[in-house]
Amino acid sequence: LDQIPTVGPSGNWIYHIAGAVKTFFYGYRMIQEGYEMYRIFKIPRYCSWLVLLNGPEYLEDIRKAGAQLSFPEALNKAGQFDYTISPGLREDVIHLNVVRGSMTRNIASRFPDLVDETDKALESLLDGATQDWVVIPCYLSVVHIISRISARFFAGPKLSSNKTYTGIMQSYAFHLIKGGFFISLFPSFLKAFVGRAIFDSQGRIRKVENFLRPILNERLEKGIDENCDAESNDMITWLWNGSPEAQQNLHDIAIRMIYLNVAAIHTTANLLTHVLLSLAAYTSYIEPLREEISSAVEREGWTKSAIEQMRKLDSFVKESQRLYGGDAAMIVRLAMTDFRFSDGTFIPKGTSLAVTGRAINQDEASFIYHGRPILLMYSLVLKRYYPNPQEFQGFRFVDKDPLKWQMTSLNSQFVTYGIGRHACPGRFFAVTEVKTVVARLLMEYDIRLTDNEGVRPADQWCTGIFVAPNKKATISLRRRSRLP
Ligand code: HEM
Repeated sequence: LDQIPTVGPSGNWIYHIAGAVKTFFYGYRMIQEGYEMYRIFKIPRYCSWLVLLNGPEYLEDIRKAGAQLSFPEALNKAGQFDYTISPGLREDVIHLNVVRGSMTRNIASRFPDLVDETDKALESLLDGATQDWVVIPCYLSVVHIISRISARFFAGPKLSSNKTYTGIMQSYAFHLIKGGFFISLFPSFLKAFVGRAIFDSQGRIRKVENFLRPILNERLEKGIDENCDAESNDMITWLWNGSPEAQQNLHDIAIRMIYLNVAAIHTTANLLTHVLLSLAAYTSYIEPLREEISSAVEREGWTKSAIEQMRKLDSFVKESQRLYGGDAAMIVRLAMTDFRFSDGTFIPKGTSLAVTGRAINQDEASFIYHGRPILLMYSLVLKRYYPNPQEFQGFRFVDKDPLKWQMTSLNSQFVTYGIGRHACPGRFFAVTEVKTVVARLLMEYDIRLTDNEGVRPADQWCTGIFVAPNKKATISLRRRSRLP
């Protein structure tokens, strides 16, 4: 990797360790610095490098490379899924097909459940309070809401109201991140032992099986097929019907449910927290959003179609994600073979790669012309994707082509959901879910920051690369008059 420029201390191993420590605290600053200087660069990590890519031609190379630059292997390396969930999950695409197919197809038919669970979750946060402002911790409350909705959509009302079940699903991801990091420090021959000793994935899976068993048995007795009744139309049924016979068993279903919950809960909770903090800080957006929500609901009722028509809300959600929610490095990949990019740059097998996500999402001009000053001037005239990129403009995307700029669109200037065949298959559900929660909340409650009116609580960096909304921030909610 010598031919790839380094950002941060470089030289012998002592410098490398110093660089890795710097990455751990300030990786996001180093990546921004690299983004402004190079189209490809590397930053030090403890025992390796992370190569950062910056430019649409590299995105295209990643897309075309397929399994040579592998997403599942990169994910497995980070989360040590072989030891924290189950070996072999990364080669298996059954649950991906189910998310892309049955789950996404059923968002409209299951929409009433989404609304009902949203209302129940919001209600439980206010705990019977009537007209007074109630202070709630923003992030924890959002995790509670999203876990309930995911449980309802994935497994039905019995489990969405069961705090032990939603608690297990919430905490799995936290434990997995910590456990995965710890296991990754050990050599391969010790990983299985360490995994069993510290993580106990089998014990955790058994707990989930105990919750799913009675539901699955009841369905098997009734008959579990594509034409099931509305009550059984959920992830358990979709996974069962989407699996070959050999994998139609409780254990496999439980593992996939865990994996999908890990993928779904905290990503969506982070996004919703960013949106609520933005709403509470920039309250002038609330009335225009309420007007849009009311008129869409008047036309369509509370349906998925009404949610899709809420363009201002879509833009507000996207702007919150663009400005606050982007990790410094996204679209992680692991080179499974030696690889040469289309510009001739070579990386050896085993190299970890990522894209300069946050810097792209906040670039003033199109990064297409990055590093070529004359064309950059041209791009400033013609391609100002994010004028004043550091300013929160909630309706920035309202008048833009929805095919390219609505929240679910994949776009090389907004890389939140990744690219190519691994682009997030759950994004249609996630966006419907977030917009629905915000729409119901705005129609039912007033919202404001508890402290420092108008000053959005600062986000937090984790391991220098991942950003999370401020976990200590609180918001205040107050009930308005009842919904029609
Ligand atoms: C706002 C919420 C979400 C965000 C920001 C998000 C983001 C992402 C990203 C960045 C990837 C990797 C794409 C790549 O590197 O090319 C991904 C993959 C994935 N996401 Fe999401 N996601 C969200 C919600 C969800 C939900 C609700 C589900 C539901 C099950 C889900 C399921 C998945 C799955 C299964 C993958 C793996 C895809 C594969 O291996 O091909 N995600 N997501």
